[in-house]
Amino acid sequence: MLNRIGVLTRDCAGVNAAIRSIVRTAHIYNIEVIGFLKGFDGLIDNNYIKLDRKQVSGIIDKGGTILKTSRSKRFYKTQWISKAIKNIRDNHIDCLIVVGGNGSLKGAHLLASEYNIPTIGIPATIDNDINGVDFSIGTDTAVNIALDALDKIRDTATSLERIFVIEVMGRKCGYIALQVALAGGCEDVIIPEREFDYDIICKRISEGILRGKNSWIIVVSEGKANAKDVADIITRKTGLETRVTVLGHIQRGGSPTATDRILASKLGNHAIDILKSGEKDKCICLKNGNPASFDLSKAIKKKMIDSKKIYNLIKMLT
Ligand code: F6P
Repeated sequence: MLNRIGVLTRDCAGVNAAIRSIVRTAHIYNIEVIGFLKGFDGLIDNNYIKLDRKQVSGIIDKGGTILKTSRSKRFYKTQWISKAIKNIRDNHIDCLIVVGGNGSLKGAHLLASEYNIPTIGIPATIDNDINGVDFSIGTDTAVNIALDALDKIRDTATSLERIFVIEVMGRKCGYIALQVALAGGCEDVIIPEREFDYDIICKRISEGILRGKNSWIIVVSEGKANAKDVADIITRKTGLETRVTVLGHIQRGGSPTATDRILASKLGNHAIDILKSGEKDKCICLKNGNPASFDLSKAIKKKMIDSKKIYNLIKMLT
């Protein structure tokens, strides 16, 4: 019997839409929802608010998370996790929904597998690095924000005939970099999944100039290299002037795209459905457009992205 569920989140565009969907679906089944503030720290500190239909009104288009978040340093220490478990039990919480990236889903799996707390993970991270999940909430918005910035940079790069190195987010995953480089018609991309060679990059730039190209944009994933270092080495090797733009956290904020709002609404709704059917320790996602679930133990494994085809296409279309 489901009477009361807890929710905690990380932040990225679309997380509020997921909270709204969870709360409003739960309401239909008379399930009470409480939201822990500041992620896992809220569980430890028993810091929560009750969430009702009204409280989630007007948030579907808002970036960030109304529940605030943190990168909890305490959660993985026995003394603090015991406190979190006690709070879950004392508050009569039947299950916990964790909305977030790899670290958050690891926490959800730990609670389920080691402490028998029923948990469900909803993938939400701009990095799109959750194993077994095609699209995480927040990724589409991040890619579009980065692409919008890149298009603007292209205007000035072409006008001044310059080389630009643009650094995008993605701690260990080159997904954003690859998508943005392809969608933005960029000349090169540097990602954690592939080795790169400065001599080859510089040779391609020189060949491009000979062919009459008048600007050159290289997208760098923060997980592989630092844009400033890449630009300095290119300038040293080619004698050509370069400029650098680091896009940073703007990629994690902002109003979610329609794609992210729809994804978040479907996943929030499905989380309640599968909890009602007794599933736990699961990650949910869309498969061929339909909600699906699979083990959190699989979701937290390293995701291997198939970078080769997109990488080759970027080069082919340069
Ligand atoms: O995991 C999401 C992410 O935005 C990464 O792309 C980035 O490397 C990291 O978080 C930044 O973390 P913080 O907000 O703690 O600086």
